[in-house]
Amino acid sequence: MWKDFPLFPDKATELAGQVDALYFTFLGISAFFSLLIAGLVFFFAVRYRRRSPDEVGQTEKAGMWLELTWSIIPLIILMFMFTWGAKVYIRAYRPPADAKEYFVTAKQWMWKFQHPEGQREINHLHVPMGLPIKLTMTSEDVIHSFFVPAFRVKADVLPGRYTSIWFEGEKTGTFHLFCAEYCGAEHSRMVGSITLMEPGDYEAWLAGAEKGLSVTASGEELFKAKACNTCHRPDTAAQAPILHGAFGEVVELETGKTVTIDANYVRESILNPTAKVVKGYKPLMPTYQGQLSEEEILQLISYIKSLATEPLEEATEENSSEES
Ligand code: CUA
Repeated sequence: MWKDFPLFPDKATELAGQVDALYFTFLGISAFFSLLIAGLVFFFAVRYRRRSPDEVGQTEKAGMWLELTWSIIPLIILMFMFTWGAKVYIRAYRPPADAKEYFVTAKQWMWKFQHPEGQREINHLHVPMGLPIKLTMTSEDVIHSFFVPAFRVKADVLPGRYTSIWFEGEKTGTFHLFCAEYCGAEHSRMVGSITLMEPGDYEAWLAGAEKGLSVTASGEELFKAKACNTCHRPDTAAQAPILHGAFGEVVELETGKTVTIDANYVRESILNPTAKVVKGYKPLMPTYQGQLSEEEILQLISYIKSLATEPLEEATEENSSEES
């Protein structure tokens, strides 16, 4: 319906339909009440106009029922709008657990993408449709904002922490990606595109693209190269918290507070290890500030996250033997 209407973006996800339904319903409700109020202002101005110069207005005593009506009806309408809006919001910003994770690093003025399989792209991301895709994003410099109108998703991309969005493509095609936060001289040129492909075509595309190690495998290499494994060992000699099965868990800190082990906590622990020390451990870990790029930190996180799904025995074995 809106496809040929140039002011309205294409719809490429199921969420797009939901967001549009919400948008037009809210617009309709707002328009209805705006017109009603404007109309009544005009009507009452004419109806109750002063008819003679010495006419004095009289106070009207509003009945209880009237007060209740004009309080309860708007309350019901607003609660309906809130509940529906919250539902769509939660749907839009909670990625499903089985979503395929891609990494996005923004910098003045480009978008860098890492496929979980290891392929890298700049300003143009290829993803399969019909599959939940999660983008975990960070910035190397200032605040940017990742906006794909056709998907109806937008999230700020911040230096020093991770934000994420997710979507599930419903149709193939190439869609605009914009930076929606003023980030410097070439902000308006910080654009890109996302191509949704049939899963088969995507596999073919992946096979043809230049491939390095997968993100997780790169993380594993780094984990060894930076000697993380000398302390974070999966056995009793460990001097640091065992990372196997740790991701997503809640741990107690030295301060008595608790923290969920997520991407933001792992990142902080790599760059500022003494900030939140797990109870029972000493603040021995050196900082890796300035030694790792944002992309490398994402690779390490991806590796640590992958350890969560492996049983401990298997992991111990893998750790003691050479990489096969
Ligand atoms: Cu990046 Cu505006």
